[in-house]
Amino acid sequence: MTLLWDADPGAVERFQVALGGVTRHDSPAALGRALEADSSEFLVIIGPDVDLASACDFSEGVRVQRPEVGVILTRRRVDVTVLAQSLRAGVREVVQADDLTSLADAARRSREISQKVAGHTTSDASREGKVITVFSAKGGVGKTTFSTNIAAYLATSGSKVLLVDLDLAFGDVAISLQMLPTTSIMDLVSMAGHIDEQGLASVVTHHSSGLDAAAAPSDPSDADRIPGSTISELLRVAKTVYDFVIIDTPPAFTEHVLAAFDNSDLLVLIATLDIPAVKNLRLSLDTLDLLGTPKDSRLVVLNRSDAKVGLRAEDVVTAIRQDIALMVPTSPAVPASVNKGIPLVIDEPRHAVSVAFKELTEKFLRNPGPVETRAEAKVDAGPQRRWSLSRGGK
Ligand SMILES: Nc1ncnc2c1ncn2[C@@H]1O[C@H](COP(=O)(O)OP(=O)(O)OP(=O)(O)O)[C@@H](O)[C@H]1O
Ligand SMILES: [Mg+2]
Repeated sequence: MTLLWDADPGAVERFQVALGGVTRHDSPAALGRALEADSSEFLVIIGPDVDLASACDFSEGVRVQRPEVGVILTRRRVDVTVLAQSLRAGVREVVQADDLTSLADAARRSREISQKVAGHTTSDASREGKVITVFSAKGGVGKTTFSTNIAAYLATSGSKVLLVDLDLAFGDVAISLQMLPTTSIMDLVSMAGHIDEQGLASVVTHHSSGLDAAAAPSDPSDADRIPGSTISELLRVAKTVYDFVIIDTPPAFTEHVLAAFDNSDLLVLIATLDIPAVKNLRLSLDTLDLLGTPKDSRLVVLNRSDAKVGLRAEDVVTAIRQDIALMVPTSPAVPASVNKGIPLVIDEPRHAVSVAFKELTEKFLRNPGPVETRAEAKVDAGPQRRWSLSRGGK
């Protein structure tokens, strides 16, 4: 049974469509008592007419007293200010009040988180692969290069690997690996709600390195027809089948990327030595803070780290207030390998770029200790400061 805070008795019927059983309360005190009375209660929905400050106060209290309980806020209009304040107060998601499909999805995601937080994970002793998302909010910095090479290296050294191309409109994983997929992630949409190992196997394409790839659709307009929930389902199944699931992403916080973040064990953020890339990386890190992604599950990789462009690795560390885990040098061998369709780690395993990719894989993916940093890039990152969405991201 879900708890609803809403003064309108008619709200129960409306929300029941999306949420199943709902018990309504019209004040935070009554809601608090209901939570106290039933420790199996995991989800609170706050109606669109409850004022934002009271909703945030309530959420802050729940976060401290019952951290396993998820609070979802509904609003008639969702804007950046509402989002920023709510996420800061520990609200799990903010959903448009009349969008019952999104509300149902948010409720399902929240229940899954609650189960994990409460230690009630239903996963059995089956395989628990690692999910790694490679992201940058700026295009062309090397996400596809990194993800294809890491996936190929893991596959050639004995791991079962799925490479997922979440750049659903303009993905180039397949072409970078000279693959000609006849199926794509789009084929999972018709299986939504019951994707299983066989369903997943029917849409992946096998590569000679041993990795499997879930390709982006060939028609860019299909991207909008793939719900975020299908990506979550894909990843949940994939990690029971594969040792590693590597996700290449577009340069934007799409709903598919957010689903990948939610399901990832590690986020690899790629930067280069140019001011827009560094600015975007800093905003991305701040956004990840707001989304509640743990800091120790993020790695920053500086690609083309030797470029002589007047900006140094130390400057990047100062700007992003986080250390750099790996430096990857610039080399014409990288685009040459893409043009050949053979990942550099396979084509030239001793190349400095390949060595860097392998070093990161062994240190942080195969044998992860706590996320550490390389000494040569280590500069005190200074105190963390939160980016407020309400400042418009400036
Ligand atoms: N270390 C490197 N040295 C030289 N060239 C590189 C290096 N890393 C990436 N490149 C080249 O930079 C270009 C962009 O790389 P890539 O496609 O991996 O970026 P991306 O972040 O995936 O881009 P997009 O956001 O468009 O998907 C490619 O031509 C690639 O070969
Ligand atoms: Mg790319």
